Amino acid sequence: MSTLFDRIGLLYTGDPGREEIEHAALVVEDGRVVWTGPSGDDPGADERVDVDGRCVVPGFVDSHAHLVFAGDRTAEFTARMSGERYTAGGIRTTVEATRAASDALLAARTAALVAEMLAQGTTTVEIKSGYGLTVADERRCLEIARGFTEETTYLGAHVVPPDVPSADDYVRTVTGEMLSACAPYARWVDVFCERGAFDADQTREILSAGIKAGLLPRVHANQLGHGPGVQLAAELGAASADHCTHLTEADVEALASAGVVATLLPGAEFSTRSPYPDARRLLDAGVTVALATDCNPGSSFTSSMPFCLALAVREMGMTPLEAIRAATRGGAWALRRTDVGTLRPGSRGDLVILEAPSYVHLAYRPGVPLVTQVWKEGRRLV
Ligand code: NIG
Ligand code: FE
Repeated sequence: MSTLFDRIGLLYTGDPGREEIEHAALVVEDGRVVWTGPSGDDPGADERVDVDGRCVVPGFVDSHAHLVFAGDRTAEFTARMSGERYTAGGIRTTVEATRAASDALLAARTAALVAEMLAQGTTTVEIKSGYGLTVADERRCLEIARGFTEETTYLGAHVVPPDVPSADDYVRTVTGEMLSACAPYARWVDVFCERGAFDADQTREILSAGIKAGLLPRVHANQLGHGPGVQLAAELGAASADHCTHLTEADVEALASAGVVATLLPGAEFSTRSPYPDARRLLDAGVTVALATDCNPGSSFTSSMPFCLALAVREMGMTPLEAIRAATRGGAWALRRTDVGTLRPGSRGDLVILEAPSYVHLAYRPGVPLVTQVWKEGRRLV
């Protein structure tokens, strides 16, 4: 089964050799892109979609999200908007609600968020655990996440839960029994490396144990203040250091020389009323940048990649081209994926048709629902 997308006004391919094609067409066959080129030169296909001058971009790759949770933290948000500060402590409120929820409720809530994301153009999403924090609850959260994506991340080390005797005891569980229970459902291991969560030695120990169990490392690093997270990400060969809000010159150099993707999460700065990370500085130093939502009930309750892209352009010094690149190919790099985040022969047929002539409108027209069609592996889902 093949589909020709014809009369595309602007095709953002994400392919460095030929990143944008005007007056383009694209053919997807059996779920994969097989051809891109000028409209009118196509090799033909079983069916034809007339894109009528609109812009086509790869489905967004949201490489950082915490979707398996119950409860709501409206009160915390309201307090923050009247001057309270965000702290890691709020995570415990969600942990309590998540533990009390049934599997069916957690799966239904996750499904609703994944559907919300899809409607806004996200075709690949990473989902973390981290609101269970017992062996059984972390395992079931990951099992639920696996129902929605291959990109699942074991984040048993989100915070030390209040009901364990000591942080050392908890690190032993996270690197032992909990890791064994979770590893079959996870591809990645992550640690919230931050004051109030896990320090450098604990982070190194947990990531190393995860790597030994066959998981790939990524780190919540330098979100709330300067800290060792970015250096550890470089030391341990992490695919991505996420947040990167507070960086020294040495941190920027470490990201660049180790080839660690800096995943920026502007929804978190928006929602915690914090200074945004300096994307310009990272890009100028040659660091690969990804944009993701960080969708979670505490620090960033948005499922919208277009919103994050608009923030990145307006608040973080990124050009619209750099932002669309970071939301597609950048996210794919952060997940070590080459089959998504681009539209070139061989890529998965995951694409978004925008009700706009250019991806620039994602930042130029913030808050406007421009995602009009979403196709995944060559099938229309929205
Ligand atoms: O990425 N930083 C740690 N985890 C989330 C926040 C979780 C929460 O507040 O519930 C984040 O921002
Ligand atoms: Fe996060």
